Amino acid sequence: MNQWSELYKQKLTTAEELAKQFKSGDVCVSNGQIAEPVKILDAVTKRAEKENLTDIKHCILLPMRKQKYLEVGMEKHISHVAHFVSGFNREPIWEGRADYMPSHYSQVPLVWQNVLKAPDVFYCAVSPMDKHGYFSFGTAADFGNICKIAKKVFVEVNPTMPRTFGQCFIHISQIDALIENEDPITEVPAPKISEKDVTIGQLIAEEIPNEATLQLGIGGIPNAVAQALKDKKDLGVHSEMFCDSMVDLYNAGVITNAKKTLHRGKFIATFTFGARSTYDFLDDNPAVEFHPVDYVNDPCIIAQNDKMMSINSCIEIDLFGQVCSETIGPKNFSGVGGQMDFVRGASASNGGKCFIAFQSTAKKDTVSKIKPVLTQGACVSTSRNDVDYIVTEYGITRLKGLTCSQRAKELIRVAHPKFREELTKAAKDMHIIP
Ligand code: COA
Repeated sequence: MNQWSELYKQKLTTAEELAKQFKSGDVCVSNGQIAEPVKILDAVTKRAEKENLTDIKHCILLPMRKQKYLEVGMEKHISHVAHFVSGFNREPIWEGRADYMPSHYSQVPLVWQNVLKAPDVFYCAVSPMDKHGYFSFGTAADFGNICKIAKKVFVEVNPTMPRTFGQCFIHISQIDALIENEDPITEVPAPKISEKDVTIGQLIAEEIPNEATLQLGIGGIPNAVAQALKDKKDLGVHSEMFCDSMVDLYNAGVITNAKKTLHRGKFIATFTFGARSTYDFLDDNPAVEFHPVDYVNDPCIIAQNDKMMSINSCIEIDLFGQVCSETIGPKNFSGVGGQMDFVRGASASNGGKCFIAFQSTAKKDTVSKIKPVLTQGACVSTSRNDVDYIVTEYGITRLKGLTCSQRAKELIRVAHPKFREELTKAAKDMHIIP
């Protein structure tokens, strides 16, 4: 047994014992999504409920599974702070049992460093320790830099967590205590692709040159884009999320990362969620690197990739080109995530383009996503000064370089035909077009 295995043995404990190290008012930060330390959180929630600990804050980008701390009545014990809203925390947030903290994804670690200061705890799930005493952050390295300023660091070692490379490791000497969890990490099914998504995907694919570097998010549209890229050559990836479709494109020889101008030969991402087959692809694979989000999503880093293509979606856009991607009216529906990070980065890249792509309508064609003005209370995610390509199933348009009246006309052109007349009338009433 080497010195690191000895240290591992000394620091290994049970979830119940570890939970005793938490106290009321503790502020805790976790790496994102699948790397949430679910067994530690369950034990802390149980102890907090039993011993009436209050206001333990659990901060994470977003949870990706049902958790006891999100159940009704738990909020006085564990208050969840999210940087993104998902199907798992949307109701708690809407009901005031959890809260949302707006921030560009790239800046969350800086907010901790400069504004909120040292959290009491940094915790996350990790892959098993290697012979040198290192654990890989696995599916998410996003907030990995926050562990350097936390007062205590706990990890949950999971043998089903892939061992990923990059700036993605923590050493046993940096850890205060650890537990083991053998339950398989969460898989997330791929979203369905609709016919409209396929049309949108094809329109975007026509704009993507060979040797481009891609950022793709989650959803039907990014998946449809990936499917439409089958005939491209030497694509690369620099993306906050590593998604299932990237594995398919790599296996098909479309993504090679061979022509990237930054991190040539490597996929770069900060987190993943998806199928077990994707986790298996990532395991021990030097072709992929996960880095903290303050690096991956830094617009200055993104921009160093020539022909950087960013593809994201939105809830609605107004005739000025203001994009709302995170709220439905005033209600938080998702989050800005890395949308602006990649819009800014791709805009500054040599040959870069950024696409905001969405189906022209919601609610079975009763609501146009292209609106005269944003719905009252809607938050601007991408400003009209940043917006570039807009894509719907009715066409593609580039707003950069267009005047206000040209923009309004172009947006009306790609709107659903049934809303074009009322949009034109509204544009005239607002004196945007004559
Ligand atoms: N008015 C009313 N409801 C609307 C709406 C609108 N303008 N736009 C969407 N909705 C509703 C839909 O009807 C749907 O509701 P349902 O689930 O009850 O059917 C729901 O909102 C989701 O809409 P959909 O268009 O299917 O969303 P999506 O899964 O394609 O995600 C975003 C779209 C904008 C929420 C998502 O892309 C996002 O969160 N983006 C911001 C973050 C980002 O870009 N990060 C960078 C990469 S990860």
